[in-house]
Amino acid sequence: MSQSKIKTDEKKQHFDDIYVAETPVPFKERILDALDYISDDFNRRMFDRLILPWVQEKAGRGETVRYVDLCACFGNTTMATVYGMDYEAIRHNWRDTDACRRIEAERRFPAHTTGIDISGNAMAYGQSCGLFDDTVVADLNAPSAEAKQAVDAAMENADVVISTASLVYLETDVIKALIDAFARAPREGYMLVNFLNPFSLDKADETKRLLLERLEFVGSMATRHRRMSPLEQENYPGEEWSLLEIWVLRRRP
Ligand SMILES: C[S@@+](CC[C@H](N)C(=O)[O-])C[C@H]1O[C@@H](n2cnc3c(N)ncnc32)[C@H](O)[C@@H]1O
Repeated sequence: MSQSKIKTDEKKQHFDDIYVAETPVPFKERILDALDYISDDFNRRMFDRLILPWVQEKAGRGETVRYVDLCACFGNTTMATVYGMDYEAIRHNWRDTDACRRIEAERRFPAHTTGIDISGNAMAYGQSCGLFDDTVVADLNAPSAEAKQAVDAAMENADVVISTASLVYLETDVIKALIDAFARAPREGYMLVNFLNPFSLDKADETKRLLLERLEFVGSMATRHRRMSPLEQENYPGEEWSLLEIWVLRRRP
């Protein structure tokens, strides 16, 4: 994969080499540990407040939840939401290249999970350790016809889509098409997304408008995301933490 395909705010630290590593251990050491990347504790809290009760109702009726992690990387947010793991548990699970091969928690509800990402290594890891039942490796900004079809089908079939710290990497038309594919299914379904501050605020505003045009707003919260790197602190003087807005939306009835 060419790393130039990944778009990043130039004032934000680039982590592309970590996303394409063979295991999540560099992600753990250089992002989770080094930058106090605690955002999944809050993604989980939001999921538990606004999505988990509905998911548990479905489980009570014997239904399997079709779950998609869009731009999933190694699946840290899936570990938080589907497996109920917190920041410390995810770090501990990814402590070394042996330990990370097995997820040290159980799914909290019956789910069919699909991971989607440009990183073939991250998707191979997610599938081999059982985090993802299915994966699609695709550059969402320039997918092959086959990958586009697989991504659209996953979005349309999904009950729950999670896309954390990621929509900012995608072109506006791509985001529109992804939300359209999700929105078109005639059933209840939820999307959890988040927006980082202080990076790419104009893009975040545009993405929020696209979401609100197509989906119904359910709720939001503001939290810490992670510490800013020394480079980012130079680019944004006076800021120590990157902050997060987490939104939950649902398909319109
Ligand atoms: C910041 S990470 C987010 C990982 C995880 N969702 C989280 O919240 O920690 C962004 C992910 O987006 C993926 N990504 C970036 N550009 C992409 C593209 N054009 N198509 C598909 N995935 C892409 C990267 O490979 C990386 O795994």
